[in-house]
Amino acid sequence: MLQQRATVLWNQPAGPSVFRLGLSCPSGYADAIPGQFVMVQTTEGMVPLLRRPFSIFGLIGDRKRPEGLELLYRVIGSGTAHLARLKTGQPLDVLGPLGRGFTLSAGMKQIYLAAGGMGVAPIRFLAVHLAARDIDLSACRLFLGGRNQKELFCRDEFAALGMPVTLSTDDGSQGRQCLLTDPLQELVSTQQPDLIAACGPHGMLVCVAGIAEKHHVACQFSMETLMACGMGACLGCAVPADRAQDGYRHVCTHGPVFSVGEVNIVH
Ligand SMILES: Cc1cc2nc3c(=O)[nH]c(=O)nc-3n(C[C@H](O)[C@H](O)[C@H](O)COP(=O)(O)OP(=O)(O)OC[C@H]3O[C@@H](n4cnc5c(N)ncnc54)[C@H](O)[C@@H]3O)c2cc1C
Ligand code: FES
Repeated sequence: MLQQRATVLWNQPAGPSVFRLGLSCPSGYADAIPGQFVMVQTTEGMVPLLRRPFSIFGLIGDRKRPEGLELLYRVIGSGTAHLARLKTGQPLDVLGPLGRGFTLSAGMKQIYLAAGGMGVAPIRFLAVHLAARDIDLSACRLFLGGRNQKELFCRDEFAALGMPVTLSTDDGSQGRQCLLTDPLQELVSTQQPDLIAACGPHGMLVCVAGIAEKHHVACQFSMETLMACGMGACLGCAVPADRAQDGYRHVCTHGPVFSVGEVNIVH
């Protein structure tokens, strides 16, 4: 994990209030794992004081010697509003990579990815990572959901990787008008994958975890909580451990990716 002054390479609109931020930071990301995140000092001023967490959306350049990383972010408050004003060439203080990402084992061949809204950020990095590991993406499937057509981020990129994509929107403007968990549930009930990897709104993760448990399928999901430090010092990101275990888990260090059964996400 490194703290470094990155340089903005691009900061381009990718959807309503959503931007892709390319950062040049030549050290520290060669071993970054999908699901890991960075803590970004969104301004050099005092407000907001705390860094903000963002999943790694992708690496820039050669996978073994990346020149930088890319983030996908939505403007929701003061920190992300500062990010949206950044211009190419400006510096940005970035700490990372942080946390525990998705864990892949050798036997995993058929993987279903579930990405809801901005949850696509770590899932897109995971899809690229799977392709680099020579996993046959045509045997995998992405379930991509959003409020509407404009919120189905990166759908063409997944398709270009050769991954079948099932789209769903809340308003039916593209794909099926349903939650992405509906087609996921349908497919898992007839064809169980080796792993479901998910990121999205909390309710979606609860539902995905339930589907995985019901069908005895391994499932890992990336969780979001408010974070102050991002490295286990403030304890602000604690979530209760699963009912079978005691105590709490820290999303920033034990996660943000957890397997079903590690934390109680229904709390
Ligand atoms: C591990 C991790 C990875 C993340 N990855 C991404 C990503 O790839 N792209 C992205 O756009 N966002 C991501 N987020 C969420 C992102 O960190 C917040 O949107 C950001 O911190 C908001 O900062 P802000 O200053 O703009 O808003 P603030 O002013 O801090 O917050 C505005 C409002 O949003 C609420 N809020 C802030 N953060 C969260 C959160 N994490 N969950 C629920 N409500 C929140 C606040 O309570 C407040 O009501 C991630 C969060 C975590 C923990
Ligand atoms: S954010 Fe501080 S301990 Fe997790």
